[in-house]
Amino acid sequence: MPKWTTQKIRNLKGKEKITCLTAADCTTASMLDAAGVQIILVGDSLAMTALGYDSTLPVTVAEMLHHTAAVARGVTHGLVVADMPFMSYQVSIEQALENAGRFIKESYADAVKIEGGLLRADTVRALVKNGIPVLGHIGLTPQSIKEMGGYRVQGRASKEADALIEDAHALETAGAFAIVLECIPAALGKIITESLQIPTIGIGAGKSCDGQVLVTSDLLGIQSAVQPKFVKRYAEVGEAMSQAFTQYIRDVQDGSFPTDEHEY
Ligand code: KIV
Repeated sequence: MPKWTTQKIRNLKGKEKITCLTAADCTTASMLDAAGVQIILVGDSLAMTALGYDSTLPVTVAEMLHHTAAVARGVTHGLVVADMPFMSYQVSIEQALENAGRFIKESYADAVKIEGGLLRADTVRALVKNGIPVLGHIGLTPQSIKEMGGYRVQGRASKEADALIEDAHALETAGAFAIVLECIPAALGKIITESLQIPTIGIGAGKSCDGQVLVTSDLLGIQSAVQPKFVKRYAEVGEAMSQAFTQYIRDVQDGSFPTDEHEY
């Protein structure tokens, strides 16, 4: 199986649905890659799923570089996309170029993702012109959570929907190779998808999107605290892990582990 490139991902539009899942470590990334997931996103959601922060805001460039490098070591075929963390690209285009360049040079990402539409179009254009492919991200953008006032569906009002359509077109014109649409009405997801030449990757944006993304720990049922409506749990890995840990404690304490077969 050859390596996925941004050009090949773009060419899937209208032909085949695109799959994207998140990874924060090499083992998970290599399993996603072996399964055939086309885009492996080192999402800044790892701030919560792997690092214990209460939002994506505190995660640093150094932390994201560290996790992206681990993921890239596990991936042969998938397109590795690194999420640029909060305040690593907003300050200036120069800052965005410098930090995005580090994801490509130091942690072997194939592309970066940044949040925002029209407001970030010039940044996207500069990155793409300098050889750094960009995945856009509009709708619910968790790095703006303090300003948005909570994790809620975006684009319900027609003015908001129009702004999102404008955002999507600005990103396409600026050179983004695809756009994540997060938490918007399915009807709006369809309108945006049908009006763009580049693929949309939806998360809570309906079935008309050109592809879908989920946070892998949500799909696996590893974290049960908050369960957004758009998540489908494909396994109950968290429960299986807890049971294994409890059984291990029991076995060690009652002497049923280790046995002769585990000895040298
Ligand atoms: O950080 C992340 O995991 C993401 C996806 C939910 C798109 O941005």
